[in-house]
Formats: sequence, structure tokens, C-alpha cells
Amino acid sequence: MFNTFSFTLALKDFRQTRRIYKDIPKIKERAMFYPDEIIQEVRAQNDIVDVVGSYVALRVRGGRHWGLCPFHQEKTPSFTVNTDTQFFHCFGCGAGGNVFTFVMRFEHMDFVDALKLLADRVHFILPQPGSAPSEGRKHKERAQHAEYNKVAARFFYENLRSDAPEAVQAREYLQNRGVTDKLQALFGLGLSPPGWDALLRHMTAPGDISPADLHTAGLLAKGQNEREHYYDRFRGRLMFPIIDTGKRVVGFGGRIMRESDKEAKYLNSPETSLFNKSSQLYALHLARRTRAKELIVVEGYMDVLALFKAGFSNAVGVLGTALTARHVQLLRRAGCETALLLLDSDEAGTAAAQRSIPILLQGGLRVKVLQTPDAKDPDEFLQKFGPQRLGQLLAGARSHIAFQIKLLLQQFDMDKPDDRIQFAQEAKQCIAHLESKIEMKAYADEIGQISGIAPEVIFNDAKEQQEKTAKTEEGFFPAGAPRARTRSSKEDPGLREARKALLHLALTHRAAATALGGYLAPEEMGDGVYARLLAFAYENTSAPADVVSRFETAEAQQQAAEVFSKPIAYASVPEMEKSLNEMASIIKIAYINSQIEQLGGKNDLNAVKSLALRKKSLQNQYITLSNG
Ligand code: UTP
Ligand code: MN
Repeated sequence: MFNTFSFTLALKDFRQTRRIYKDIPKIKERAMFYPDEIIQEVRAQNDIVDVVGSYVALRVRGGRHWGLCPFHQEKTPSFTVNTDTQFFHCFGCGAGGNVFTFVMRFEHMDFVDALKLLADRVHFILPQPGSAPSEGRKHKERAQHAEYNKVAARFFYENLRSDAPEAVQAREYLQNRGVTDKLQALFGLGLSPPGWDALLRHMTAPGDISPADLHTAGLLAKGQNEREHYYDRFRGRLMFPIIDTGKRVVGFGGRIMRESDKEAKYLNSPETSLFNKSSQLYALHLARRTRAKELIVVEGYMDVLALFKAGFSNAVGVLGTALTARHVQLLRRAGCETALLLLDSDEAGTAAAQRSIPILLQGGLRVKVLQTPDAKDPDEFLQKFGPQRLGQLLAGARSHIAFQIKLLLQQFDMDKPDDRIQFAQEAKQCIAHLESKIEMKAYADEIGQISGIAPEVIFNDAKEQQEKTAKTEEGFFPAGAPRARTRSSKEDPGLREARKALLHLALTHRAAATALGGYLAPEEMGDGVYARLLAFAYENTSAPADVVSRFETAEAQQQAAEVFSKPIAYASVPEMEKSLNEMASIIKIAYINSQIEQLGGKNDLNAVKSLALRKKSLQNQYITLSNG
């Protein structure tokens, strides 16, 4: 009923809110270009109760659907899905959001993949994303390549199961290496026929695919002399389809079955617009299903297969390339928090670990490193010692620090006093950045034991160095400047509630938004998600569940959904008005305080004074609501 009331402002502090909120940085620009109408359409066609119900058993009670929360361990249901609002919410762990948030969190997908999955589910054909025509073309080409690859993968798969003598041989080879039928099926292994044109003929026979297309897709090679001569790129190889998290076949790895010096052991698909080996991890689509926070990273296809067979289904493989930031991003999107590098025990494996550690750390992952003792790689280790021993080895895996200390040790001779000192000094560098003092002390003890230097001295040295670094880093920030993370944890819960309640009002009452528009700028919300929500309220109000879709990450969606989670009832217009004023001034004062705090270190008395004045003047400002 309050929709019929309009808000007017007694206060004429019409700052140029619109201009201001256009300037606030978007928390994260959406990495895709689907128009909002499309996203809303897909959401509208996917009823949240149906979607969630296909993953979680739901029961109706008190007008809501209840089930066991898939995002935390529980025995009694505190997870609810609401048909009216199209939101889910867990009273136990606080998880919440719309149908996209649910799929993103459950499937460990990013927004675009969740959108695709839900569009697929209702046979909704997504338009080519992106406004630029070249982007549309590329998208089409990638989809085309994936389609060709799928046909090829099926062809290889069936060929491996045929009566052809080479297929019989290949199956024998796999059995000998312990790759069971079940494993072959799980990974979709296949065999490329030995001739020169089996795939070419198979795929061009229907007449609608040209050899040139298959060449661009990486399935055919092209003769160097004769211009238009194409032939099968993969011949007589065991085929490992490489499948991305969107379940597309993006490329292949092909292994020869008889060792040879003439041919590379593995041949991978060439780089195409769809396939880039630096941005794929073998078996990630399977590994992430385990929802493990720790993923094992290995070097080879065969290592991945062996680990899966032994029951370690949280393994992924790098495709014969160095680990990249893009790989780390993929790991994180899969919900991974710790990467356990389980690399070959040769020098190349050691070097790969050394190169990968900083990349993983930079990406925010914890890192453990292991190399298999008495076996060249995990596959061989499993053959020799079995799953139980590997399990023990994995359980005992230690952080990258232990690995680095061990490597360092190899450079020095502990029988020489000078070496011992230098070792201790360099090892100290490895632990000086550790945040946990307990961890730092534990490693200091270890370094002490190896070098014979008192662990306390090493610990104190490392600590001192850390403090020194912290001081120089502080120089880059004004004293007292917000360190984004530490601050939000200390945040006043009353302020948070005020922000949520105000946003709820602004997003559900058009007139409230209009009135507030002259009073409160989005940036004054003091938080990226809240700032954008207020900006959305000013732009126009769409259904709450659609507002939530406009955030890209599951975390941001959840935070946005929380705003709608508690409907607030106001007994009367004056009560609503009073409440709106209270909330707005709490938010504004907090914002001014944060600005004063930031100025603290700058000794800018005038600026502080003017902010204090602004704060004081708030007492005389009042938003009134009038009927009409
Ligand atoms: P490995 O030689 O360790 O292979 O190379 P593997 O997976 O353990 O296989 P098996 O046990 O010998 O059968 C590790 C990875 O390096 C890439 C492949 O991705 C391989 O899985 N590689 C290796 C190539 O791309 N080309 C090659 O010629 C060799
Ligand atoms: Mn290997």
C-alpha cells in the first residue's frame, strides 16, 4: 500500500547523485554481454523450486519448501526455497540467493556457465553474446569447433570398441596399464584409426562439413606442398578428449602405443579459438564434482587416470605446459582452496613446482608440494605401492615452505659452518612472510634443527624482517586508511542492518528510491555491493530476484539477496518515515566518519572540520513522506 505514497524531501541537498553513482567503480564488470532481458527471461523460465528440487529433496511446510542444506553439513533441514520471492535461504549457514546463485554455488560455475546451463534446461537459445560482430563470429566458431570435436570424440570412442585389430591391441594396451573399461568410459577414451583419412571421410561424408573447417578446428593437418591436401591429424593414437567445465570437448591429447623416437609420445590439439592448453586442466570437469577444497595437480593424463582409479577423484592434470594464472583461476572457480602439487620426481618436476608455487600463492591458494619417492610419477607410484600408500603420502603432504627449505638445503654443505649460516639466512627469507606465527615458529624450529642455529634466533630474525617489510608497505598508504578486509569484519552490525533495511525499502518502493536519490549517494553505502544496489534502485526497480542476477559472483549475489531476506513491515507511514530517516542518517554518519578516519593521517584539519560540520548539519535534515 505504501507504493501509493510518494516521498518528498524537505531537505534540498540535491547533490548530483546520478553523476556520482555513474562514477563508482563497478565491483566486477560482468565478463559477458548478455542483455538483462535475456538473463531475466532465463531466470523467469527456471522456477527455483524446480531447479533446486532436482538437486535437493524438498518438502513443503508452512508455505515454504524445506530441505537439507547442500552448502553445509546438517541433520535437520534449515534450508528453504521460496516460490514467491524465487530466493533460497539457509537459516543454518546463511547461504542465499536466486536460481543463478544456487547453480553457481552448487555446480561451482561462474555466472555465464550457470546461465548457459539454465538456458539449456528450458531449451532457451541464448543469442550470441557481445555486441561486436567479430565477437559473435568467434563465439559461433567456437561452438562449431566444439560440435566437430564431439563428433570426432564419439568416432574415436566407438573405434576403440570395434573389432578392428588395432582396437583389440589398444584395449589390450589399456588393460595392461590398468585402465579399466569403467575408467575408459569415464574419460571417454578413444582410438584414432591408423590410416590417413578415416576421420576426414567420416566427418565430411554427410557433405555439410568441409575439410578446411576441420583443419581450422584442429582435427585435420594440411599437406605442406600440395595446397589443398588434408589428412587426419591423429592417427593410430589413444585419444584423450579434453573437456572443459562447460562440458564441451575442446581438444584432444593422443598417445602412441609403441614407444618410438620418431614420433612425440603425446600429440595435442593445436591452438584454436576454442583450445588453449594454458587455460585448460585435464579432468577438471570431473574433479570439481567432488567439491574438494584441495585439488591434486599432476603432470600427466595417465597420472590423472591412475589417481581416479585409486579413488582420488580430486585430481587434475596440466597439459604438458607451465602452470598459469588462468589455471589458478580455474582451480579457484572449482572451489579449490589448496593446490597439492604432485609432480614427477625428476628435475623437470622440481622445476615445475618451483615455478608454479608463486603463481598459485598469488592466486590466493594454499600450496602443498609432493614428489613421489621411488617412482617417477604418481601413476608408477600407484602401480608399485598401491592406493593406501599414496593416501598416506598425500595426508602427509607439507606446505610449499617445507619443499623450498628442502631444495635450499641441497645447495649447502651442513658440515661447513659458513654454509650453515647462509642456509639459515636464506631459509629465514622463506618464512618471513608467513602470517601465522605458529607456522613461522614451527619452521624456525626445523631450520634450527638442520643448521644447528638456535631456533629462537631464526624466529626472531624472521619476525623482525616481517615487521620491517610491513612498515615500508605502510608508507604506501595513509595511516589509518581502510584496509578493506580487516574493516568489514569489525563492521558495526547495526550499520549493516540499516543498510539492508534502507536498500530493501528503496528497491521495493519506487517512490522511496526517487526521494532518497537526492539525499544519499551510492558510494555513501560504504560497500561495493550495497552501492550498486542503491544505484539499481535509482535506475529503476525490477523484481528482486532479477536485481540479484546483476551481480557476477555467488558471494555478491548472496549479499544482495540478504537485503530481501527479511521483509520489514511498517505499521504506518510516519513509522516508515521515521525509520527511513534513522537508517539514512546512520549510513551517512558512518560514511562521514570513515572519511574523517581516512584523513586522520593527513593532518588536514580543514577537511576534518568541514566533515564534522556536515555531520552536525545532518541533525537538521529530515526526509518527510507526504501523501500524493
Ligand atoms: P609424461 O611423459 O609424464 O606422460 O608427460 P604420462 O601422462 O605420464 O604418460 P605415460 O605414463 O608415459 O603414458 C606428462 C604430460 O606432458 C604432456 C602430456 O600432457 C603428458 O600427459 N606431453 C608429454 C606432451 O604434451 N607431449 C609429449 O610428447 C609428452
Ligand atoms: Mn608421467
